[in-house]
Amino acid sequence: MRTTVGIIGAGPAGLLLARLLHNAGIDCVVLENRTRAYVEQRQRAGILEQGTVDALRACGAGGRMDAEGLVHHGIELRFDRRSHRIGFPELADGRSVTVYAQTEVVKDLVALQLAEGPPLLFEARALAVEKPESDHPVVRFTHEGREQILDCDYVVGCDGFHGIARAAVPDDVRRTYERTYPYSWLGILADVPPSCDELIYARGEDGFALHSMRSPTVSRLYLQVPNGTDPADWSDDRIWDELDRRFAVDGDWSLARGPVTSKSVTPMRSYVTEPMRYGRVFLAGDAAHIVPPTGAKGLNLAVSDVRILARAFEHHHRTGSDELLDSYSDLCLRRVWQATRFSYDMTTMLHSQPSESAFDSRVHLARLHRLAASRPAAAELAANYTGLPL
Ligand code: FAD
Ligand code: DHB
Repeated sequence: MRTTVGIIGAGPAGLLLARLLHNAGIDCVVLENRTRAYVEQRQRAGILEQGTVDALRACGAGGRMDAEGLVHHGIELRFDRRSHRIGFPELADGRSVTVYAQTEVVKDLVALQLAEGPPLLFEARALAVEKPESDHPVVRFTHEGREQILDCDYVVGCDGFHGIARAAVPDDVRRTYERTYPYSWLGILADVPPSCDELIYARGEDGFALHSMRSPTVSRLYLQVPNGTDPADWSDDRIWDELDRRFAVDGDWSLARGPVTSKSVTPMRSYVTEPMRYGRVFLAGDAAHIVPPTGAKGLNLAVSDVRILARAFEHHHRTGSDELLDSYSDLCLRRVWQATRFSYDMTTMLHSQPSESAFDSRVHLARLHRLAASRPAAAELAANYTGLPL
């Protein structure tokens, strides 16, 4: 099989890149290890920045998002039993975010691609990217029980953190930066209307909790738990009791309980690999970087990478110039490090842990108080949360 751009991975990065290239008249093929049902059910992110919403709409994938997505104009921070709202449009040049689950973004992009192309092969596992420095890199993959070859002009690794594309960058070229955090998130989905109109990020005495949502009838909630936590050790009652404690606030508010339909634990990690390009192989999304989820940046970073990359391929296709392809890695990494910094700040400010010193605890609380008291501090959060310009 032969194509111009071979894309490994049908997560948000790979699917959106394929759509953008297709719309620009550039042919590509997407190889996805898993089944369609698996990628469409994988519970992950839920918040789309304004720029992500605009990009999905512009490429023709915005219909259901516009009908069913919930536009949010702010978030609530809760600490010391008090709540403080950060309003976005007034602090961030009219920008907002949209609650629309990653599962739905993936379903919309898969449906479009299967209807209109380019080719998308499920259960096609990439084994290796070969000859990255040549004019014709190759992806070796297995599909329908046999090993096959995808001949490409370019390869893009959108294959997530556990993918194989990153290994195409030689060890003596690749630099990695990593931080693991001493806690994880236990996430649940519950069939109960959200107890809030906007997301609540809470720092309780015993740790962090987040109240998010998937729809007017489905709540998504997260609890900070120790690394290595087995979700089976958390009964539904234990989860609701702990959420009650962490969201506790003076005044009239209560958390509605309902049947829990899913439970999972996600570890927290920051990871960046540099450069994001080697020869004719490019990396995008989680294949190149991971952020802890507290800032809701992972999916949005994946989308901004492929918007920048699609623009570079289009420029090359129209003019023959490599200029934008050559600047891809540097341009993305500047944004990636801003999101890494923001996610780190949000994570350390909102989580607490037994080993945290009383001094650190006071500093984190002081940052929250500053956000509540200072318009410029709140504006800085709002600008980052709704998305820095491309
Ligand atoms: P992915 O979505 O990981 O897609 C990569 C794709 O490549 C997958 O479909 C995979 O099956 C495929 N693949 C891998 N290896 C191969 C191979 N060898 N051959 C072919 N295909 C391959 N972000 C938030 O903002 N908020 C959250 O709450 C949140 N929760 C998360 C929970 C979990 C468990 C994880 C892992 C991530 C979470 N994230 C969250 C991050 C966000 O979901 C990711 O940043 C986003 O999925 C990145 O998209 P991507 O397309 O780069 O990678
Ligand atoms: C969700 C996840 C996040 O990491 C976040 O910061 C906000 C919302 C969610 O899954 O809804």
